[in-house]
Amino acid sequence: MAEPVRIAVLASGGGSNFQALVDRFNRAGGPQGAVVGVIASRADAGVLRRARRAGVASAVPPPQAGEEETAEFLLETLAAWRSDIVVLAGYMKLVPERVVRAYWGRIVNIHPALLPAFGGKGMYGGRVHRAVIEAGTRITGATVHFVDEAYDRGPILCQWPVPVLAGDTPESVAARVLAVEHQILPAAVESLAAGIVRLGADGRAEWAREWFETEVFTNREG
Ligand code: GRF
Repeated sequence: MAEPVRIAVLASGGGSNFQALVDRFNRAGGPQGAVVGVIASRADAGVLRRARRAGVASAVPPPQAGEEETAEFLLETLAAWRSDIVVLAGYMKLVPERVVRAYWGRIVNIHPALLPAFGGKGMYGGRVHRAVIEAGTRITGATVHFVDEAYDRGPILCQWPVPVLAGDTPESVAARVLAVEHQILPAAVESLAAGIVRLGADGRAEWAREWFETEVFTNREG
């Protein structure tokens, strides 16, 4: 049997997306794969508490580290965990180019809006949802995409829409989107781990034909 795919997570916040991945993978009868470690960008990130509770390894780069030192730390830690896939789940820092290159096609990010709208530098957390409300758009959502050297720009892997309702606040939109994130992130990572989606030679996400033969697409009346 093939070795289970080893998933590492990079996070900065409370870690509810990390938790969704642990709940999906690190349990008996779950898909082939396991979350093996989390790197938090700050020592007080709530995700570290979740990691302890789940028995998952964790690490934090030295706070004063410059870009080169951070890149070294990330590469060494990810290699020590023998990481196959790297997931950015609420990671607030730009991933150094060397790390992006080392995990090209195997590193993904979750963003709480429908990219390419409402993404890029400075578009994180409540700012995203405030911008969505100010723009008056009726639809927002969540996006999982492959990571490249820029914030929120890499090839899109999957997206799911979420309505923006009258009277919504950034907090109410965030909560609705987060619930969707917890669904699509584990699903996308599972598909990547199983080789059902990959980064194609044309630089776009390429879904295997067999995915379209699953019951989501074939279980139609008539
Ligand atoms: C999520 O909304 C994610 O899309 C964004 O940061 C938030 C992280 O939430 N990038 P959590 O730490 O996973 O709870």
